[in-house]
Amino acid sequence: MQILVTGGLGFIGSHTVVALAEQGFTPIIVDNLSNSEFFIKERIEQIIGKAVKFYETDCNDLQAMEKIFQENALQGIIHFAAYKAVGESVAEPLKYYENNLFSLINLLKLMQKYAVQKLVFSSSCTVYGQAEKLPVDESTPTLPAFSPYGNTKQIGEEILQDVVRSNADLQIISLRYFNPIGAHPSALIGELPRGVPNNLVPYITQTAIGKRSILNVFGNDYPTPDGTCIRDFIHVCDLAEAHVKALEFLQQQNGSFIDFINIGTGKGNSVLEVIKTFEQVSGKKLPYQFVPRRSGDVTAIYADVSKAEKVLGWKAKRTLADALADAWRWEQTIRTYQ
Ligand code: UD1
Repeated sequence: MQILVTGGLGFIGSHTVVALAEQGFTPIIVDNLSNSEFFIKERIEQIIGKAVKFYETDCNDLQAMEKIFQENALQGIIHFAAYKAVGESVAEPLKYYENNLFSLINLLKLMQKYAVQKLVFSSSCTVYGQAEKLPVDESTPTLPAFSPYGNTKQIGEEILQDVVRSNADLQIISLRYFNPIGAHPSALIGELPRGVPNNLVPYITQTAIGKRSILNVFGNDYPTPDGTCIRDFIHVCDLAEAHVKALEFLQQQNGSFIDFINIGTGKGNSVLEVIKTFEQVSGKKLPYQFVPRRSGDVTAIYADVSKAEKVLGWKAKRTLADALADAWRWEQTIRTYQ
């Protein structure tokens, strides 16, 4: 079964391509290499032991995308390709709206034209903002987005809902990710941030290896037990497997169907807990300092994951320590390539 994976050379995309191949699907990658590297394709092939079809194509290029739909007998799509830097989206909102929304619209048009019915969409827990009640479940109302990036995820979900309401014969699941971290245990693929990382775990591993001098912890005056923010950190391989489960679930659905599912571990960990766990698994002392809060950060969020378990039969299996050990192994490997 051929599954198109947009953004398939990116962090979550590459791990999902591996998970798909392991479950007998035939992933076809489309990626414009705007925030990924071509060598990841060879690494994926090394892990799964076979070649993967790859198109260096921008999802915003409708004609080029149409060619892919014509050349392949696609039976589903997992749509990762999107920009995701919160700060950049505030500075360049149109870049985000154009890229993240037009690509989705192109895919939906082509899905209808070529009768490709199954779609898994990459959404984010950012749609909840600071939820009043934790853990947050899917019935929690979404709040106005803090950033254009977050808004593209909310508008993306609204577009999907409207298209399904129009009686389009499409079956869609929007997965709301919490904080994906870690790397493949082979250390052949992982996260490759360009420039200074925005996210916590790549900043930690780069500090530990000496690429950054010190980790800035944004705020230690939050109303949490240790004063630092709390997040639900999920191993990227668990997240990748959730996509395969979502696709398998969609095979059982017909007609117009959409659902929204949280993908996290169900556990919250503070920034300081992540640092301590990293120090334990790496055996390295991490230099860090407290600095003022980062604007736009919510105090605490973690997932109620009962729906994922009930609907998809999926549950995160790996621990925070597993994820940090894998991220650290990956960091030590990539140093030799940069
Ligand atoms: C961020 C985005 C989220 C997006 C996700 C993509 C915001 C508000 N949210 O999640 O929408 O889907 O990335 O991966 O930006 N931290 C530090 N020092 C650092 C980096 C981070 O203390 O150098 C702290 C942050 O303040 C936060 C926690 O670590 O409390 C996690 O930060 P990060 O990894 O950037 O993820 P989110 O902000 O939760």
